[in-house]
Amino acid sequence: AIERTLSIIKPDAVAKNVVGQILARFEAAGLKIAAARLAQLSRAEAEQFYAVHAARPFFKDLVDFMISGPVMIQVLEGENAILKNRELMGATDPKKADAGTIRADFADSIDANAVHGSDAPETAAVEIAFFFAGLNVYAR
Ligand code: CMP
Repeated sequence: AIERTLSIIKPDAVAKNVVGQILARFEAAGLKIAAARLAQLSRAEAEQFYAVHAARPFFKDLVDFMISGPVMIQVLEGENAILKNRELMGATDPKKADAGTIRADFADSIDANAVHGSDAPETAAVEIAFFFAGLNVYAR
């Protein structure tokens, strides 16, 4: 089915100036950009976005990292977009990510892991609505 997923290019990858290379991988895989914006997240926004991880030991480091510089946020649309994006990203820990994935090629650590992607249709809907008003998401 045609799905939408929320994708974030994290501060490490924006700082490395590889936004275009990462977006090109989405496009090459048939995912279309339905919304996009560069943003500097506030601490409150990052804490709310990652609220599901609030009790985890890595939460503070995660939030500190996510507000350390601008991020590129996009909605990707296409057939099986949620799983397709997760396959393109590779494992959360770049040391475990398959060769040729975004994290294997651009990430440095489990914290600075280049990209975020929604993990299921329910979270995708919540995450997309968190960053984009409906009228700013364009069917592709
Ligand atoms: P992300 O997909 O953005 O979702 C939560 C993030 O927490 C994850 O990517 C990692 O960057 C970060 N993180 C740090 N430590 C861990 C861990 N042990 N398990 C899962 N995620 C972690």
